[in-house]
Amino acid sequence: MSDLKTLAEALKNGTYSRVVFMVGAGISTGAGIPDFRSPGTGLYANLSKLNLPYAEAVFDIEYFRQSPKAFYTLAGELYPGKFLPTKFHYLIKLFEEKRLLRRVYTQNIDTLERIAGVGADYIVEAHGSFAANHCIDCDAELATELLKLDMEDELVDGIPVCRQCGGYVKPDIVFFGEGLPDRFYDLWEQDCKKTDLIIVAGTSLSVYPFAGLPAAVPRRTQRVLVNQERVGDFASSPRKVDILALRACDVIADELAELCGWADELVELIRK
Ligand code: OAD
Repeated sequence: MSDLKTLAEALKNGTYSRVVFMVGAGISTGAGIPDFRSPGTGLYANLSKLNLPYAEAVFDIEYFRQSPKAFYTLAGELYPGKFLPTKFHYLIKLFEEKRLLRRVYTQNIDTLERIAGVGADYIVEAHGSFAANHCIDCDAELATELLKLDMEDELVDGIPVCRQCGGYVKPDIVFFGEGLPDRFYDLWEQDCKKTDLIIVAGTSLSVYPFAGLPAAVPRRTQRVLVNQERVGDFASSPRKVDILALRACDVIADELAELCGWADELVELIRK
């Protein structure tokens, strides 16, 4: 708590004006979306019905080429539209309103940052999203309405197909074996040296290149970890001044807003 107090004081007195959030599935578990790697509750521990050779195959491009069914079974459950942002998503929006936000790098494909109202210019969806879909063979785009129709269509076994070449279509989520969007690299090159505070939240920092971001910021940049557990560079190469808030993201959102005197504004944002 005392560390959060120091952070809140610094936020209030203007020490930080260029804040970068780096987030993962743990900021959305409060919305009812499971994370990937938490033992017992994480997605990867609960995929036995999909008969995968290994859990991460569900997001592997080579496996998808052979067996797209597993991904589409999961996509039906995770498809955006039925989940609402958490307090932590609204905390990010509040940073934007306070003109403190420089960027939010998210590994999540649930688009809850957008739904919380964070401006598109601030968001980097490092692992893509369900916003658009392309054929994995000829790269033709398939409209989301058509993708959804195919997902319901038993004639194609729930697997969307390209209207141009008949290949399988996949939402623009970055699978293992695919590159991250140019926007990720372009903006990170600018942001890396220009942020004065990074808040890493709800990620196990196990998937690269995203997992390497916290280690790449200069030593003058204050680092904060909001997570159930100590992860990545915060565990392997901790810096003396790192702030660790090892509790649930939504609890920290409340505590930080309270300490900054922003609690009413956070409630108001959620109510809107
Ligand atoms: P993980 O499931 O690997 O990590 C989630 C982290 O959040 C864990 O350290 C949890 O302890 C923590 N956590 C869970 N709920 C929390 C809560 N309410 N408050 C605080 N911490 C909480 O998820 P990611 O790191 O996001 O890739 O996974 C990275 C990538 O691996 C994903 O983007 C996905 C996956 O394969 C693709 O889909 C391409």
